[in-house]
Amino acid sequence: MTKFTLLIVLLIFPFSSNKTTDEGLKDLFEDSFYLGVAVNRQQVADNEKQLFPLLKTHFNSLSPENGLKWEKVHPQLDLYDFEFGDAYVGLGEKLGAFTVGHCLVWHQQVPDWVFEDAAGEQLEKSALLSRMEDHIAKVAGRYKSRIDGWDVVNEAFNEDGSYRESKWFKIAGKDFIKEAFRKAHEIDPDAELYYNDYNMWKTSKRAGVLKLAKEMKAEGIRIDGIGMQGHYMLEGPSLADIEQGIIEIAEAGFTVMITELDVDVLPRPSNSEGADLNMNYANSPEFNPFVNGISPEAEEKLAQRYADLFQLFLKHKDKISRVTLWGLHDGKSWLNNFPVRGRTNYPLLFDRELKLKEGVFEKLREVAGG
Ligand code: XIL
Repeated sequence: MTKFTLLIVLLIFPFSSNKTTDEGLKDLFEDSFYLGVAVNRQQVADNEKQLFPLLKTHFNSLSPENGLKWEKVHPQLDLYDFEFGDAYVGLGEKLGAFTVGHCLVWHQQVPDWVFEDAAGEQLEKSALLSRMEDHIAKVAGRYKSRIDGWDVVNEAFNEDGSYRESKWFKIAGKDFIKEAFRKAHEIDPDAELYYNDYNMWKTSKRAGVLKLAKEMKAEGIRIDGIGMQGHYMLEGPSLADIEQGIIEIAEAGFTVMITELDVDVLPRPSNSEGADLNMNYANSPEFNPFVNGISPEAEEKLAQRYADLFQLFLKHKDKISRVTLWGLHDGKSWLNNFPVRGRTNYPLLFDRELKLKEGVFEKLREVAGG
């Protein structure tokens, strides 16, 4: 390159980028809440090469989709695997993102040995709690001051507000929840601590969660926020129900986070709630109508649903600290396999080619007033 061409390039370059191409999703909400995304193992390992600039442009918070769950990070009693976690917090730092830990204690994706002694007998309460505390000390301790907030306990309640009969609860009662928060705070006093669950828009479930959260607060146990997972569908739950949830959580004194947002565009088998589904549905066109592409009507509905949801979140931005999408692009969404395996779903903001869905972006720009 001659000096002359270099000069021309330098002169032209600053004007060649315009506002629209630089503008990211997060910028629409920068005065309101963090915009986060859950990343998976391959993404953290940066196997999708365009990924970093995309994350940098559009998101300012990260969640780990699976890599910090018990079975991944602590697969055997004396074996911890921090490969994902180390890369994950490294990515968070490189991005300058608000970096979330998910999740310390859950009844899913946790090995059976956790609840058993060496002879395979069920542990006593004290032994289980001390095992849980060791886990929290090791995992939250390793990422002390690098993870900004932890989902300490995930999904401990039933829809009617009673405690889920998980192995945690059966052995230790609700104390496992309190002890988990106590320990997490002891290990990383600067980390925010959250309880996280789905269907928090349901009055009965929310009542159970808030009762315990308030009880914990009264006992001096740190709990900063409640995560409403936000696995929604096109038609429901209603905005009014979601809004009621946001308001009541805030009124109870907790920060609200929408922690796992996605919008399922596919029809659900009517018995899907909580049911154990099998592969049979996968080959049924009735439940898998968009194998070769989403219909324009559904695409339009998706854009409108996201616009309506974000309009609601913006209305309550004083209560909401973060909205996190549960995955970056449709190709990797868990909703391709839940509640029916092997479908082609379109629940996220980026398509399978990693392109931001323009229709959604347009509408979000409108609601954000940009
Ligand atoms: C899901 C992941 O997205 C899947 O890849 C995995 O197979 C199952 O778990 N609630 C949660 C998340 O808190 O951790 C779940 O993530 C989705 C439901």
